[in-house]
Amino acid sequence: MNPGCSRTQLEEEILQNIRPSALQLAVLGRLYRFISSRVYEYLSRSGVRAIIEAEGSYAKGTLLSDRWELDVFVVFQDLTREWVNNKGKDFLQEALKGLPVLMKYSEHPYVTVSLMGVDVDVVPVAGQYSAEGPKGVERTPLHTRYVRSRLNECLADDVRLLKSFMKGVGVYGAEAHVGGFSGYLAELLTINYGSFRGVLEAASRWRPPVIIDITGKADLKLLRSRYPDSPMIFVDPVDPLRNAAAAVTLEKLSNFIAASKLYLASPSPEFFHIFSRRVSFERLGLNVHAVVLLCHGDYSSTPPTDLWGRLARQVRSLASYLRERGFTVLRYSEYTDEFSTSAIGVAVAEEELPELEVLRGPPAWGDTESLLSFVSKRADEGGVALFEGYVIGVRPREERHASEIARKWAALNNMESCEVLEFPSASQRAGQVGRWAMEELLSVPAWSLRH
Ligand code: CTP
Ligand code: CA
Repeated sequence: MNPGCSRTQLEEEILQNIRPSALQLAVLGRLYRFISSRVYEYLSRSGVRAIIEAEGSYAKGTLLSDRWELDVFVVFQDLTREWVNNKGKDFLQEALKGLPVLMKYSEHPYVTVSLMGVDVDVVPVAGQYSAEGPKGVERTPLHTRYVRSRLNECLADDVRLLKSFMKGVGVYGAEAHVGGFSGYLAELLTINYGSFRGVLEAASRWRPPVIIDITGKADLKLLRSRYPDSPMIFVDPVDPLRNAAAAVTLEKLSNFIAASKLYLASPSPEFFHIFSRRVSFERLGLNVHAVVLLCHGDYSSTPPTDLWGRLARQVRSLASYLRERGFTVLRYSEYTDEFSTSAIGVAVAEEELPELEVLRGPPAWGDTESLLSFVSKRADEGGVALFEGYVIGVRPREERHASEIARKWAALNNMESCEVLEFPSASQRAGQVGRWAMEELLSVPAWSLRH
């Protein structure tokens, strides 16, 4: 261990579990050499110039032990972004012919080779940028270079701790449906604050908007106007006009701040992803219910971002529908395998609403019309208005079960074909959806208990 690399006993123990083994690094290294030699051969046969380099956490030394994955970039030195977008994928597919290739959707073209349980993303990028410089995925090699120049072994281990912590508390991943911290952002934060603890101590004092300029010379006013809705701005050191934290939502930022405070107050292994576990409301003696709409369809041709976005909108609408009808909504969540199954679910504090619904009436000194109409409406509904100094109305409810109301919402939203499930009673229902519902809707992470 490096001198000056100070960590607690617990953090050292976690590291022993999350540092990749020598075997893992050897296997990934072999695979990298195998893939790159295949592509190099094809390049020389076709007379195209390109440099192949490893990117991602494998190249930066920040890989976690349970991540069997490689990011390989092919930088076409003489070719433009247009060429890469139109021909890049076919070129790589031809170069990797005969190897098992997975089809995945993405904004930019790339090929995934799946060998011995390892997914290798082979990503083509242009070496010739347009006038405004590298964009999107073209920045990745620059990120790799920057991070490598700033990390030593000790800091790389601290990045591993931070990534594991972020995964453990559910804020890791810059995908749109996660809205959390990318691997690159975890690296930048560690570089900026000097250690894992340094990041958590800073985070426990954050108050959004959080603005961090590691370059010390960025135009923060301009950045704030370019990212007006970002609760967090971390100036990208390889492109000071870009926010490296653009994906982070207020929700994930808040959860990270809260989890940092809880960890610093009483550290425990459960904050880290390999030791994270969840405790059901049932075990805590709390009666929480969830209603889930389970749908089947062909989702394989919908871009994942669109699919997750649609599910997020739907579940928000279902949650407000339930809330408007009197339920106390605790949380909601969406799920899809991005292939044939999707689900949305809402957890509520009551399984059934009371038989009677109570409504606030108009003030007695308001206009006569409103008062009379309130009284006659309640009578029409089989209810009654009460004059107790203030006016309230009482009426019987038509639907009292969350599942009935969810079915009604489904009918209004052209989703009649979806199945309505109630949890925890449906929890014996095997499969991914049941596990998701019990995990996401009806349990809490162990780190959030007893502080
Ligand atoms: N990348 C990409 N397209 C891919 C694979 C990777 O654009 N198909 C880029 C990402 O934009 C990112 C870098 O490659 O800048 C690494 O991505 P990712 O695997 O998400 O992050 P890591 O740092 O490798 O972190 P992890 O350990 O979680 O894999
Ligand atoms: Ca990676």
